[in-house]
Amino acid sequence: MTRGEFICSSLALAAVPARASGATGDKIKAKEIVIDAGAEKPFSVLHVSDTHLTAVYPHEDKWKQEMSRADTPIFGAKQEEALVEAVAYAKAHCDFLLHTGDLIDFVSAANLDVVRRHLPKGCIGSLGNHEYSHYGWLVKKAGTAGPGREETRKMLSEFYPFRLPLVAKELNGVVFVAIDDADGTVSEEQVSQFRRIAKMGKPIVLCMHVPFYTPGICRAGKRWWKKGTDATNPELNLPDFGRQKSDPTTCAFVEHLKSEPLLKGILSGHLHMFAENRFSPTAMQHVAAGNFSFAAQLVNVT
Ligand SMILES: [Fe+2]
Repeated sequence: MTRGEFICSSLALAAVPARASGATGDKIKAKEIVIDAGAEKPFSVLHVSDTHLTAVYPHEDKWKQEMSRADTPIFGAKQEEALVEAVAYAKAHCDFLLHTGDLIDFVSAANLDVVRRHLPKGCIGSLGNHEYSHYGWLVKKAGTAGPGREETRKMLSEFYPFRLPLVAKELNGVVFVAIDDADGTVSEEQVSQFRRIAKMGKPIVLCMHVPFYTPGICRAGKRWWKKGTDATNPELNLPDFGRQKSDPTTCAFVEHLKSEPLLKGILSGHLHMFAENRFSPTAMQHVAAGNFSFAAQLVNVT
């Protein structure tokens, strides 16, 4: 990625507050969207993604210190405050909070303590690619990628208050299903679990970190991330979309979803920008901008 692309013009270089207090949620810039799912009674969900916490304790290794020093200003240095504000906003205005990944920028003991401290009981969500990143873009310098995917997920499950790698929550007859597609793909086990949930016959909102490929979201994402053009297939420049299109399980799942009438909406993140595009005859896909910039989606489910 081009790391400077999403640097805010108004970077605050102050340290991330150890614990923001008195949050009201007023700092959250929530974009209202509507998902017409056929709910028994309308309700609201606050959808946030990509907080990119960069906290580190002094005793943690030098590469994590360097990650924190380098990435904290990139994400505005107020990520913990942005998370706390989102939690306060959800408490004040919504029925529950949904976080679709990259809550942390890299795995550190300090970041995980922030997660445990602030994510409220009852929230749901999924992991993002950064949840599996121990040394981020410093991986080559650090000389190790850190623990593998399974070990990392097991460790994170101690800190995140929702079930991994898939969690479902029903409210007013609508089922929110959050799946971990951190590398852009889904597993056979996740697909089986989704199908079992769909057998209940209730409307579903699917939530995950990496959006599913649609031409409009790919185009918007490429513009945002300023990717170059691949002469052979200009639409596959974002690597996540390339992995989706080459993974048979994910391809079959996406095809199935496109004709699944119970699917009423998709909520995702990862791109750090707002975007939306029709996914199927019954579902729009809505991408949330980064929570690090105090952005959120206020999802009105009717
Ligand atoms: Fe992110």
